[in-house]
Amino acid sequence: MTRVTDSLLIRGKQIKNRIVMAPVYTFPFNGVSEDSFYNIEHIEHYTRRAAGGMGLIIVASTQVYGAADGTKQWTANNIAILKQIAADCHAYGTIVFMQLSCGNVDINHLSTDDIHSMQTDMKSAALSACEMGFDGVEFHFAHGFALCKFLDASFNQRNDQYGNSAMNRARILTELLPDIRSNTNVDFIISVRMGEYMPESRDGIEIARIFEKAGIDLLDISFGMESPERPVPDGFPCSSVTYSGCNIKKEVSIPVIAVGDIRTEEQIRFLIENDYVDLVAIGRGMLTDPEFANHIKNNEPIRQCWRCGGVPEKCLWFTDYHNCPAMK
Ligand SMILES: Cc1cc2nc3c(=O)[nH]c(=O)nc-3n(C[C@H](O)[C@H](O)[C@H](O)COP(=O)(O)O)c2cc1C
Repeated sequence: MTRVTDSLLIRGKQIKNRIVMAPVYTFPFNGVSEDSFYNIEHIEHYTRRAAGGMGLIIVASTQVYGAADGTKQWTANNIAILKQIAADCHAYGTIVFMQLSCGNVDINHLSTDDIHSMQTDMKSAALSACEMGFDGVEFHFAHGFALCKFLDASFNQRNDQYGNSAMNRARILTELLPDIRSNTNVDFIISVRMGEYMPESRDGIEIARIFEKAGIDLLDISFGMESPERPVPDGFPCSSVTYSGCNIKKEVSIPVIAVGDIRTEEQIRFLIENDYVDLVAIGRGMLTDPEFANHIKNNEPIRQCWRCGGVPEKCLWFTDYHNCPAMK
């Protein structure tokens, strides 16, 4: 039986346990410095969670489209901060990725040249992440953003090689992979965050298999254009988003992360010990309890997120975490 404290090897890199810090954008930290998107608060934030025992940390979405070549996010100052985050995570034995996002543009209006330029930025950001010492990247194909729109058959109306078939809808990344592989370390992990419903479950499954065949190392299953409303089977103690992760896991051989309202040790053990998924990601719970993973490991109580407003979109970390009631 797999245990939460068991390690997992991906491309020769050891993730020391099954608990992942989900990518959670730290809006309140932004805008502190003139020439930097990242700042000292980001270093402290991620280092505290690495010290808190996380197996894998996914640094929240960094915009790459139009940004990889030297806008505010990719200045020398930012690179120094990101390098420090990677080094600090490693000092605690935590594997660390950058999540790369291509913003929220309408992909149906992009020219082929625009798409190629998006791909150039995706590649260049992945290479930078590798150079900065990150163990891998996660391409953000979830939550209705630009890359997600490519995947979703009901949104993607393109009639060229980036639309129609599932193979084409995944092409923005699959045709880029060999180039990223040959320009990054052999153990550099490339993962994708995506949903199951694209818009039907079978579409997400087909895409997941295409990514696997193309050489993606790890799938992080959240939701696509919108959160699934489907009820979960009787006795399944987690959310429908989490259930999506379990569904995709049945269809692929690469490791799968599940996420979405996972709050308790019982839920985590259920998912891992029954091999429903390989890793579990914690978002808001990791904000309110930086020691989340150590607390699970040591059988200690977790400082729970209060679920303000019920859905992640209402989380006060989108605006001012100083008002987060669980932090007081
Ligand atoms: C404040 C906030 C920021 C988030 N930022 C990101 C992000 O940058 N990228 C991403 O893929 N998901 C993001 N998410 C979604 C989380 O990764 C996670 O999937 C979601 O919060 C559900 O997990 P939870 O119930 O454990 O919080 C964000 C969520 C919150 C609350």
